[in-house]
Amino acid sequence: MKKDDVIAIDGPSASGKSTVARKVAAALGWLYVDSGAVYRAVAWRVLQAGVDPSDQDAVAAHTRSIEANFFVELGAVLFEMGGERPGEALRREAVNLAVSPVAANPVVRDIVTAWLRGMRDLGHLVMEGRDIGSVVFPEAAHKFYLDASPEERARRRHAESQENLTVDAVGASLQRRDQVDSRRMTAPLTVAKDAAIVDSTGMRIDDVVAAILERVAFSQKA
Ligand code: DC
Repeated sequence: MKKDDVIAIDGPSASGKSTVARKVAAALGWLYVDSGAVYRAVAWRVLQAGVDPSDQDAVAAHTRSIEANFFVELGAVLFEMGGERPGEALRREAVNLAVSPVAANPVVRDIVTAWLRGMRDLGHLVMEGRDIGSVVFPEAAHKFYLDASPEERARRRHAESQENLTVDAVGASLQRRDQVDSRRMTAPLTVAKDAAIVDSTGMRIDDVVAAILERVAFSQKA
């Protein structure tokens, strides 16, 4: 059975997924979910606990001990981990560096995937990530793969960054993460076979949103 209550939006970092997914969710009155933030939050807890992000067994053990609580606020699914809300800490460079090995850990992926699937109990979802259409909700009726050129993605991420880095440094950091995300053994970044590919290079965000909404409306009528 196709799941008609989930829209999966996958793609590399800074492809415009977050802005697009947020706007699609707002237009439909569905809940926005940033699955990358959940992986980032696990990496943040791992760092806080003084665990080495590349120590697979220690990261797995620590992740099993995390108490996560998910709730709806302002049209999005948000969370506490270990009773704390992470906030801006998730965007720090230390978390950027730690999140790739943490997200490549198969135990972490199983735990986060179960958390993400459980969010369907909270309402209709627009979920962005890397493996939402391929692994988390392979039966989602609506799947999109959003992409943009590496130069455009570096410019976008640089514009939103609070840190004092050059566009080139931001581009290099994105590229490193893309490589780890695409080459890892478990749930690598891939295009789900039934996903619609949208290249947003040079497109206005609102046009990307409109294209997605049109396709969703069309497939709901079909
Ligand atoms: O989208 P982002 O940059 O916030 O994602 C942070 C990290 O989490 C990134 O390295 C990829 C990983 N991730 C993942 O492996 N699977 C997802 N569904 C979402 C994010």
